[in-house]
Amino acid sequence: MTRRLLVTPALPYANGHIHLGHLVEYLQTDIWVRFQRMRGSQVLFVCADDTHGTAIMMRARQEGRTPEAVIADMSLAHQRDFADFQIEFDHYGSTHSEENRLLCERIWKAIDDAGLVTEREVTQLFDPKEGVFLADRFVKGGCPRCKSPDQYGDSCERCGATYAPAELIEPRSTLSGVAPEVRQASHLFVQLEQLHGFLQEWTQQGGHLQPEIANYLAGHFLSEPLRDWDVSRPAPYFGFEIPGHPGHYWYVWFDAPIGYVASTWQWCKQNGASLESYWESGDVEIVHFIGKDIVYFHTLFWPAMLKTAGMSLPSRVQVHGFLTVNGEKMSKSRGTFVLARTFLEHLDPAYLRYFYASKLGTRPDDLDLNLDELVQKVNSDLVGKVVNLASRSAKFVGEGTLSAEYPDDEGLFAAAAEQGEEIARAYESCDYARAMRLVMSLADRANEYVDRRQPWVLAKDPARASELRDVCTVVLNLYRQLVVYLAPVLPKLTSDSERLLGAPLRAWEASKSPLLGTPVARFEHLLQRVDPSKVAAMIESSRAAQTADSAPAPAPSSADDGAALEAEPLAGPCTIDDFAKVDLRVARVVRAEAVPEAKKLLKLTLSLGGGSQRTVFAGIKAAYAPEALVGRLVVVVANLAPRKMKFGVSEGMVIAAGPGETDVFLLAPDSGAKPGQRVH
Ligand code: 2FM
Ligand code: ZN
Repeated sequence: MTRRLLVTPALPYANGHIHLGHLVEYLQTDIWVRFQRMRGSQVLFVCADDTHGTAIMMRARQEGRTPEAVIADMSLAHQRDFADFQIEFDHYGSTHSEENRLLCERIWKAIDDAGLVTEREVTQLFDPKEGVFLADRFVKGGCPRCKSPDQYGDSCERCGATYAPAELIEPRSTLSGVAPEVRQASHLFVQLEQLHGFLQEWTQQGGHLQPEIANYLAGHFLSEPLRDWDVSRPAPYFGFEIPGHPGHYWYVWFDAPIGYVASTWQWCKQNGASLESYWESGDVEIVHFIGKDIVYFHTLFWPAMLKTAGMSLPSRVQVHGFLTVNGEKMSKSRGTFVLARTFLEHLDPAYLRYFYASKLGTRPDDLDLNLDELVQKVNSDLVGKVVNLASRSAKFVGEGTLSAEYPDDEGLFAAAAEQGEEIARAYESCDYARAMRLVMSLADRANEYVDRRQPWVLAKDPARASELRDVCTVVLNLYRQLVVYLAPVLPKLTSDSERLLGAPLRAWEASKSPLLGTPVARFEHLLQRVDPSKVAAMIESSRAAQTADSAPAPAPSSADDGAALEAEPLAGPCTIDDFAKVDLRVARVVRAEAVPEAKKLLKLTLSLGGGSQRTVFAGIKAAYAPEALVGRLVVVVANLAPRKMKFGVSEGMVIAAGPGETDVFLLAPDSGAKPGQRVH
């Protein structure tokens, strides 16, 4: 019977762009889905943006837009990034959808009917300026234990102490900078303890979880009574209001996993399928891929919600570790906080797909992206061992055909066909590192064959043409097997190889029997070697995009206002190299205020996308009222060295034209432009 699978990665938050850390998971999941399809399983692969919560609400306020506009833009950006990394979902939804609201209501009613809901007062910090309750990470202050300044509201990064935000020394809101007030509000809780027995069994038996995760849950949570889960937030909150509790909203983590079901439902509606068959029948294996930071939500809350609502439980929750780059946490100032888009601007996504695959094992261990290793691995494995087989043989077949009968190959093809099951087991268990090692050792054997048979020598002797064709037939068939085994990881190489060999490569079975007598197309380049200078350029451009936070101020300048918009005589010649140094970016004005003491200056807060903001002083006070600028797009010189001025540090320059005073015109890009985009 055909195996049916519903597969999801965690839903990305709509308040930030996809970066290389996120991609560990999305690539791991996409590879697994492609593998399952090659094995003949029927797979539905869904995702969605996770859109609710205080962070989105505050971002929207700062940008002078509605939360709906913010999440719509981010959803498009996420989908573009995924598509360009060849991560292909069947459906991409949003937790801010009608389907999700209806499902939340249904699941909530089941939880309420089961007597699991209780209500009580919670004391929380409140930002009186912004009028919102503050989640722990929106409060900072001195650590009550070691007194380090500037620590988050839940724990100290310096000494590891955990505490309540109200215990911080001189706490302040990170949203407005004001001192928060302590306020009471009523919250709704789910009494998870009532499901302790069920969760004990589900997490510890049935093989749904990796052993490390099952042990972690047993040791950290299940060994004592489970705490009630706080699932509501008082207004204002961007989310769904809870029926019967006006002014109270489901906490984002309540509706986020329900988004898996809502996205499935949307796909079902569009494809004439039934939601019940996925989430209520037990015929489909539900598999979630997640990071180790959200285990608690997916292995305790989520199964508890599904169980109570009488829905299908996940068959498997596969947990991965975090990404480090060059052995350290990703860092904006070191340029190792790399957005997916920045990677794509410099490098082929196949490099990252292969590198991550070569590192991912079954355990939830952290994964290090060592950039030198990436260069070396891709160049020596993929280009040197795999693609080289095709380039060393296809050219000798010209645009001819493969031999009609499979020649003697010293048993290589049969041995590699047999290895297929071992490789498949490795993929199934998410041990991609092992799968890649097995494939590369097959590639080594194939290359030894080429070295022994030396097709380039045979090619010099017309009398040995048929021997040459036999050798190339063997090599291209060994290459084809390798591509079948790598197809889940390298979809583009697979389709290019399908064109070369004129035969499909997306079924595991294709590795079992050789291609014979078929035409071979003209060889075209399959994969470029990684150019280390492009890796360096990617890091440099990530660093440049983020320097606003950390750049040291240069020597003070004598300019008062820094009004850069005076009409000036034309400067001397600027070479193309000079011009190439200027990094022009689209930015959105998120805040604009007059500098009262300066004649010409407005202080602008600009968003360059990816969460990066910077302050720029612009001499355009006479031409623009500050409120007319909020929300609008401008072009900014993003890599201008920060400049210390009388009223603060200016971290860039907005581009405008005109003679000055009231006749100054900001150069706004087309409305389709997005903050952070490079201006060409
Ligand atoms: O951790 C995160 O990024 C969350 N946005 C994941 C949500 S997964 C699911 F529950 F929606
Ligand atoms: Zn401390």
